[in-house]
Amino acid sequence: MAKAKVQFVCTSCGADYTKWQGQCGECKEWNTLKEFREAKSPAGRPDFSQPDRFAGYAGAKASVQALSDVDLNEQSRLATGIGEFDRVLGGGMVAGSAILIGGHPGAGKSTLLLQTLCHMAKQHSVLYVTGEESMQQVAMRAQRLNLPRDDLKILSETSVESITEVAKDLQPKILVIDSIQVMHAPAIESAPGSVSQVRESAAWLTRYAKQTGTILVLVGHVTKDGSLAGPKVLEHMIDASVMLESSGDSRFRTLRAIKNRFGAVNELGVFAMLDTGLKEVKNPSSIFLNRSAQQSSGSVVTVVWEGTRPMLIEFQALVDGATMGHPRRVAVGLDTNRLNMMLAILNRHGGIFTGDQDVFINVVGGVRVNETAADLASLLAILSSLKDKPISADWVAFGELGLNGEVRPVPNGQERIIEAAKHGFKRAIVPIGNKPKKTIDGIQVIAVTTLAEALQQLR
Ligand code: TYD
Ligand code: MG
Repeated sequence: MAKAKVQFVCTSCGADYTKWQGQCGECKEWNTLKEFREAKSPAGRPDFSQPDRFAGYAGAKASVQALSDVDLNEQSRLATGIGEFDRVLGGGMVAGSAILIGGHPGAGKSTLLLQTLCHMAKQHSVLYVTGEESMQQVAMRAQRLNLPRDDLKILSETSVESITEVAKDLQPKILVIDSIQVMHAPAIESAPGSVSQVRESAAWLTRYAKQTGTILVLVGHVTKDGSLAGPKVLEHMIDASVMLESSGDSRFRTLRAIKNRFGAVNELGVFAMLDTGLKEVKNPSSIFLNRSAQQSSGSVVTVVWEGTRPMLIEFQALVDGATMGHPRRVAVGLDTNRLNMMLAILNRHGGIFTGDQDVFINVVGGVRVNETAADLASLLAILSSLKDKPISADWVAFGELGLNGEVRPVPNGQERIIEAAKHGFKRAIVPIGNKPKKTIDGIQVIAVTTLAEALQQLR
């Protein structure tokens, strides 16, 4: 029998190595390499000497076809019935696909899946495998959340071999594994949660899913210290990976696709965690705009673009004289490097020096802004706080700032202005390249070409 091969896998980025080393050469993280022992063939791994055992993750036997001959009609989607979830998946779960739901423990992964599947089970057969919670706990939660409990099949099991045995009999359309980190595969000796177990169990289950056309939903915890092999080590073998995230103690949860073979990855779904479970937030603009009617300095609203829709969010800045020698720069929900760049532009092209000031900037509501379109608004918030001059509550601003102090246009300018007008904003400061050709009802558009021009609006 072949000897088990030992490899080392980075739990942060999934890179493979033959020898242990302190730092991962790919992602440069330290101490993330964990031992990975491949299953001895023929127990779990495909073996070339037995051709009929050889099937990749896709589970299909090799056959050559012209690309145009491949049947396209097979991939039907099952809508989850939860609009925000469907939006992130690109319209629903694709038959035969493997989907990974990642997130920190307590993010709400089990809750989201239970809510979704209790409803989907009315039309499709669903097997929910719970390896972490007991059946009672799951049933009690379903009862408390007032979910229909008649159709969902539930199994408490952690051996992937037994799970696939049960699944072969039951033939569910959707198989949920909560979570992959407590599963164990035959012929692997290491503890559940280790890289070897997680990979091998996931490979076992995906192979089953692909061969039978079952939708496989894997739950994967993300842990900071890397004590459990995280979703990263699985990303290559699954079709879609979505992350459920919460920021701080905020009750809002965002769902985002990290990888999706069947849709776009830039969609954002927004949920609120209430005592009645996760509720969709259909109009995220209204929750991230957490404003009192009173004007206060340092607060500016911008329109960011998330996937296919605009979203209004508010920046709050606080600029205050630095008490200690080294001024502090703190950005929450925004990249600190971007903040430093903004301040350098403000100094050079706006003639405003902040080197002796502490600068704090926060995105209200716990969302993260990655878009450069938020540059102008963040800088206006900083300036408004520095000068202690409130910006009128019915203004919005967006635009990217260039290093030469120019305000650059951003995609979907007109839609952003329309969204602001819809929420009652009266004035928009936008890059000249985004000035709409026709006037938009209810909102005055001020087009600027440089930072200096934008700053004049504050006088
Ligand atoms: P859970 O779905 O168990 O998280 P995960 O499976 O990602 O680890 O969610 C647990 C958290 O959600 C828990 O801290 C309590 C909270 N919660 C509510 O606030 N309201 C609810 O109705 C439910 C079911 C959970
Ligand atoms: Mg859970």
